[in-house]
Amino acid sequence: MKEVLIIYYSQSGQLFDILKNVASTLSDEGVNITYHEILPQKEYPFPWKPDEFYNAFPETFLQIPTPLRKISPEVLKSNIPEGKPKYDLLILGYTVWYLSPSIPINSFLKSPEAKQLLSDTPVVTLSASRNMWIMAQEKMKRLLMENNAKLVGNIALVDRNLNHISVITIVHWLMGGKKTKMFGIFPKPGVADSEIETASRFGIPIKEALFKSDYSTLQNDLLRLGAVKVDPSLIATDIRGNMVFSKWSNFLIKKEGDKRAKALVYFKYYLLFAIWLIAPIVFIVFLFTYFPRYRNIQKEKAYYSSVALKLD
Ligand SMILES: Cc1cc2nc3c(=O)[nH]c(=O)nc-3n(C[C@H](O)[C@H](O)[C@H](O)COP(=O)(O)O)c2cc1C
Repeated sequence: MKEVLIIYYSQSGQLFDILKNVASTLSDEGVNITYHEILPQKEYPFPWKPDEFYNAFPETFLQIPTPLRKISPEVLKSNIPEGKPKYDLLILGYTVWYLSPSIPINSFLKSPEAKQLLSDTPVVTLSASRNMWIMAQEKMKRLLMENNAKLVGNIALVDRNLNHISVITIVHWLMGGKKTKMFGIFPKPGVADSEIETASRFGIPIKEALFKSDYSTLQNDLLRLGAVKVDPSLIATDIRGNMVFSKWSNFLIKKEGDKRAKALVYFKYYLLFAIWLIAPIVFIVFLFTYFPRYRNIQKEKAYYSSVALKLD
């Protein structure tokens, strides 16, 4: 019997629906699937109030963990003989907050239980974000390495609408709590319903690799099914965003009470300015430098589509 553990944190349930669809084709008489939902002791709001949304930024970006509820002994399989990996495969479903893995996922990956579950275990990551997931996945690769886990596959599902359209519609979703068409005319926010449904196709190569106990070609098999589509125009925005977020988060974390609330108002205006003014400029620069940088861009696309980690 192959043992698979699906770990996730999803507020609206979108990510959970995707994971269930992947699991639908992975399930088999010879596969036992266990689910574990990560639950912070102090829950994050959904829908979000604007203040709470911005207030989550410093701790998210600085990857500061929050206490989580205990993992059940059944999930931890505390009764299994020592030295053996407890699960044959782990599927880690996460969402991206502020260009980083969300606080609950980061907190789990920094817990002693994560080491216990992940050490020497193959891991497939599955993210469902707006579209800025590339640097978050690089952080995820590091967190997995610190847990001695083996990243063998990655699936990154996003909102495929225009970047700025998805900014508008995600606000409607996250602050309103409903994944509906804003004013009845905007596209639905988040991962498209058709993509959520057809995510079931990813379970097939995962199951093959699981039974062969050979994951060497899994990422290429997933890529052939469209598991990752790197948008090269967003790489520079993500890298630049991380540089600026690093400054903001270190500044904001030192503030307390009213001072923090006031400073977060400036951050909010900066964020609007960055999204609506800086991001389009970065995009124009990307277009103008596309041909001279063509080979480099292809290399970047190949690297960010892979499960390799560049250590520098
Ligand atoms: C506080 C916060 C920050 C977010 N930041 C990003 C981001 O930097 N990049 C991105 O692509 N999506 C971002 N998202 C969207 C999430 O990745 C995710 O798609 C959305 O919250 C729905 O996830 P759910 O399954 O938990 O409901 C953010 C969401 C929240 C709540």
